[in-house]
Amino acid sequence: MNALTEKIRELKAKKNAVILAHCYQNIEIDEVADFVGDSLYLSQQAAKTDADIIVFAGVFFMAQTAKILNPNKKVLLPRMESGCLMADMIDYKQLIDFKAQHPNIPTVCYINSTAEVKSECDICCTSSNAVRIVESLHAPEILFLPDTYLGKWTEKVLRNVKVITYPGFCPTHLRIKPEDVTEARKKYPEAEVLAHPECHQSVTELADYVGSTTGIMKYAAESSAKQFIIATEKGVVDRLKRDYKDKEFILIKDNIVCPNMKWNTLEDIYNALEYEQYEITVDENIAHKALKCIDRMLEVSK
Ligand code: 13P
Ligand code: SF4
Repeated sequence: MNALTEKIRELKAKKNAVILAHCYQNIEIDEVADFVGDSLYLSQQAAKTDADIIVFAGVFFMAQTAKILNPNKKVLLPRMESGCLMADMIDYKQLIDFKAQHPNIPTVCYINSTAEVKSECDICCTSSNAVRIVESLHAPEILFLPDTYLGKWTEKVLRNVKVITYPGFCPTHLRIKPEDVTEARKKYPEAEVLAHPECHQSVTELADYVGSTTGIMKYAAESSAKQFIIATEKGVVDRLKRDYKDKEFILIKDNIVCPNMKWNTLEDIYNALEYEQYEITVDENIAHKALKCIDRMLEVSK
């Protein structure tokens, strides 16, 4: 074990802290993390932790969600520059305008959104429960934001709900093109293609399986196939290669990397714990309203 890993573990025990890490983080973070997973799993862990300090190795909206769920705990984001480009595509005013253009329709926000946005939505969702969440509303049409592709994929799966989407997207997943799938299939004809629903629909419609980060990992673990083309962020491929040595995992193209997920190093995690930085705060009024939107999702996802 390296010295920094040891020090982080000591500090965690001393301060009664928990480290939550998203699967897109640099893989060495897993050595010190208590829980590693997708957005839904991590928010479920944040909702039930009894730690005094939560260090979120992920992006800003994840730490903000953890703070909303734990107003009396200290929530730390090791690098403040870890934003989500998709979450930043819609602010409060843009949300109000979008809702005004489509009045009296239930609004679902992807968890990749700010607290202000969540405070004005009916329910939030992640990529692993979007279908279930939209279904739970029993509405003929819904507004979905900010990710237009997750919204459209949900509409395609459900068939009987009209999903009106806001034009947001994930720049990392949109780098994957349908021709990348076609070329990869030619090169690896036996392989299964597993894609994240943040990809463009021209990509997801060519995939054998579409699912969240941990959905993809679970599918790959259980499939009898031996070779997989992975159409999502590189962190998923790194973990699959580490965990399933008898199978082959191919990142669909080079450099499918979310730069904001990669800021954190072990040193940043150590500094976060040692100096209790950088603390996330959320306006009490906004947090109260956003909590309803998050709690409703957690209730439906039980
Ligand atoms: P999931 O963790 O739900 O797979 O979402 C991926 C993502 O882009 C997180 O920001
Ligand atoms: Fe945001 Fe895309 Fe990065 Fe996820 S991968 S944090 S959606 S920019």
